[in-house]
Amino acid sequence: MLKGDDVFKKIIAHAKEYGFIFQSSEIYDGLSAVYDYGQNGSALKNNIKDYWWKTMVQFHENIVGIDSAIFMHPTVWKASGHVDAFNDPLIDNKDSKKRYRADVLIEDHVAKLEEKINKEVQKAANRFGETFDEKMFRETNPRVMANREKIVAIMKRFVAALEAEDLKDVKALIEELEIACPVSGSKNWTDVRQFNLMFSTQMGSLSEDTNQIYLRPETAQGIFVNYLNVQKTGRMKIPFGIAQIGKAFRNEIVARQFIFRMREFEQMEMQFFVKPGEEKQWYEYWKQERMNWHISLGMGEDVFRFHDHDKLAHYANAAADIEFEFPFGFKELEGIHSRTDFDLGAHQKFSGKKLQYFDPETNESYVPYVVETSIGLDRMFLAIFSHAYNEETLEDGSQRVVLNLPPMLAPYKVAVLPLMKKDGLAEKAREVMDNLKFDFMCAYEEKDAIGRRYRRQDAIGTPYCITIDHQTLEDNTVTIRERDTMLQERIHKDEVKRVVMERISYKK
Ligand code: GAP
Repeated sequence: MLKGDDVFKKIIAHAKEYGFIFQSSEIYDGLSAVYDYGQNGSALKNNIKDYWWKTMVQFHENIVGIDSAIFMHPTVWKASGHVDAFNDPLIDNKDSKKRYRADVLIEDHVAKLEEKINKEVQKAANRFGETFDEKMFRETNPRVMANREKIVAIMKRFVAALEAEDLKDVKALIEELEIACPVSGSKNWTDVRQFNLMFSTQMGSLSEDTNQIYLRPETAQGIFVNYLNVQKTGRMKIPFGIAQIGKAFRNEIVARQFIFRMREFEQMEMQFFVKPGEEKQWYEYWKQERMNWHISLGMGEDVFRFHDHDKLAHYANAAADIEFEFPFGFKELEGIHSRTDFDLGAHQKFSGKKLQYFDPETNESYVPYVVETSIGLDRMFLAIFSHAYNEETLEDGSQRVVLNLPPMLAPYKVAVLPLMKKDGLAEKAREVMDNLKFDFMCAYEEKDAIGRRYRRQDAIGTPYCITIDHQTLEDNTVTIRERDTMLQERIHKDEVKRVVMERISYKK
């Protein structure tokens, strides 16, 4: 995978040029951290959704899916803790007037120390060659140990300050670490204050009877408040899961890195209801299961890693992220959280309605514990898209940009290309297209030289190009060109469907 700031800029430009992602309201100069998906982007996004839904819901007999409303009763957000605790610590630089998340400033500082350690290790590895013992070096080298101790001390103090809601100490830490504003270079900071990330609006037409409501900041609460409805109507037996895909909204202070952090985004979440006491075992199960899901997409194992949380959210007794190596480094892609009975317990208390499960085997009732898997659809899109983006120099010295998307996720599975319009080739190509379009998203192109058409399909990640030429008129064979290898084979036109189907199948 290509890396670095320049590559990331090219990826963003490519996403726009080929109809994947546009800035929202672009003709009005855009709206910050809000994006629209274009013709190819929405197709890729739908395919990612479909893959998640099929593997989570269709492949698991004990997981069902729902689609709950974005608007919910305002007390939901009181019960969930979002009204009181869904805050980010915010700090402004007085000279640049730029606003930052205090935790991000500190984490960036820690990341620089990590980088120093890694450079030290790399230098030593180069010096000692094959005899290098990395573990021993990390545990004994004085400079590495000093930086490691600094990191541990910073994180310990920072977590303690946040837990005690001691924002003065968070500011003191930023000052002691001499963290400067990346824009102005100055260390002239305001106090740190909490900022609630939920968007609110009014429901009701007259101002006297309006009610303040929120745009949901996570889809999970729509699952919790429907727990009993689904359990009873679906006759679900614990352990079972409820899955949902839908929009979520957060008024992010620092929205950056394209679609990585947006103010309107989509989540794919699954809440798995288990017997109290069994949650840790299910947490480990879903951590591994979700990692396997990512690896199944064929992007390699080394672009993913776990990050276990030191600081747990108010609802969790264990939490980990699956991080992905984006062009700007390893960052969170998905969260797996053991949420205890916090949410169901809180909704039971605030609503006054029992949200319990009667276990027919033990004849006891309890509020189930929950293990959650939560992934950002847009973030998954960015992971797949940036990993797929490649620039290649071909044997003849020419360049091509290709999206090596997993074939089953590509917007178009097949492009049907008559070599030329005349001699009846276009008509024959239409015949092939009409036969395939019921089974696959197919593109049809007859303009420009065949090489240019191949390049255009490579750039949007179409895995197979079917070319209709004069020989097709004689023996009904076509060429099928594979995107990644660019190899072509001749097969009978009636074989195309079977061959493509086999290669893009989820089974594969
Ligand atoms: N229900 C749990 C929950 O919402 P989270 O860690 O806040 O947990 C889960 O969010 C996932 O949602 C993240 O791992 C990320 O992929 C995605 N996500 C969160 N905030 C986002 C944002 N502002 N823009 C895009 N994706 C976001």
